[in-house]
Amino acid sequence: MTSTLVRAESRAALQDALAPHRAAGARIGFVPTMGALHAGHRSLMHAAREQIGADGVLVVSIFVNPTQFAPGEDLDKYPRTLDADLEACAAEGVDVVFVPGVAEVYPAGEGQVTVDPGPLATVLEGVSRPTHFRGVLTVVAKLFGLVSPDVAVFGEKDYQQLALIRRMTTDLCLGIDVVGAPTVREPDGLALSSRNRYLDPDQRAAAVVLSRALFAAQEDAARGAAAALGAARAALRGTPGVDLDYLEIAAPDLGPAPPEGPARMLIAARVGSTRLIDNVALHLGAPEGGDS
Ligand code: PAF
Repeated sequence: MTSTLVRAESRAALQDALAPHRAAGARIGFVPTMGALHAGHRSLMHAAREQIGADGVLVVSIFVNPTQFAPGEDLDKYPRTLDADLEACAAEGVDVVFVPGVAEVYPAGEGQVTVDPGPLATVLEGVSRPTHFRGVLTVVAKLFGLVSPDVAVFGEKDYQQLALIRRMTTDLCLGIDVVGAPTVREPDGLALSSRNRYLDPDQRAAAVVLSRALFAAQEDAARGAAAALGAARAALRGTPGVDLDYLEIAAPDLGPAPPEGPARMLIAARVGSTRLIDNVALHLGAPEGGDS
């Protein structure tokens, strides 16, 4: 493993940094981020390193992508903590950090070819953020083109994003192994998110109800989808300051929910002015191998 972190701010510098690794035939692992790195991101870097081994080259990008924010969303106030981010990358044994400016990623402006995310982007997050996934997939496609990784790791916390990136990689034959890494949580269950830092102490205390609702659903999932939804709604009831956007059960690939077997429960809610999302795996109906 290389111990010196190379910081590349341009496409050319990125290619210069990667050239010797490509020449040596090293596997390239990639973790795209928008910075404000926390233990969840560090777990993605760790997972990527496991995929590529000590001889692989681990690349992290830090880029707050404007095209995935709608007007009025938090693009301007999105936390930017580059010094701490670089320290986190160095501590995780990252080899190359790509920190491009907007013009480096969008040299021709924003109105060029974009990735149409298709119908999966119109449900769940897509209902209240209809342009979000076009921006995400477009920037991820660009970053994939620049880094040409063998494997890229994304968090299950953004489950719909992960599903769409998998879809894009398959449907556009990108030949990249997309790996999902489990959500990292605070000790009380709150999923780690760069946006948690927007929460004041009262909002932070209220926000834990999202994960509590999901865990309650997991406990009742053996009795079916309606029971799981009922348990989650009961857990959410009566928490002031939490404005539910959606609470849904879907198949693991986000198709229609199955009557029984593996499924996913996804939630989004506004806590104050902060929109939070979370999700967990469910097994609907009798547990596998259990009595029916
Ligand atoms: O998950 C994120 O941080 C972003 O959506 C991503 C994948 C880096 C694209 O900007």
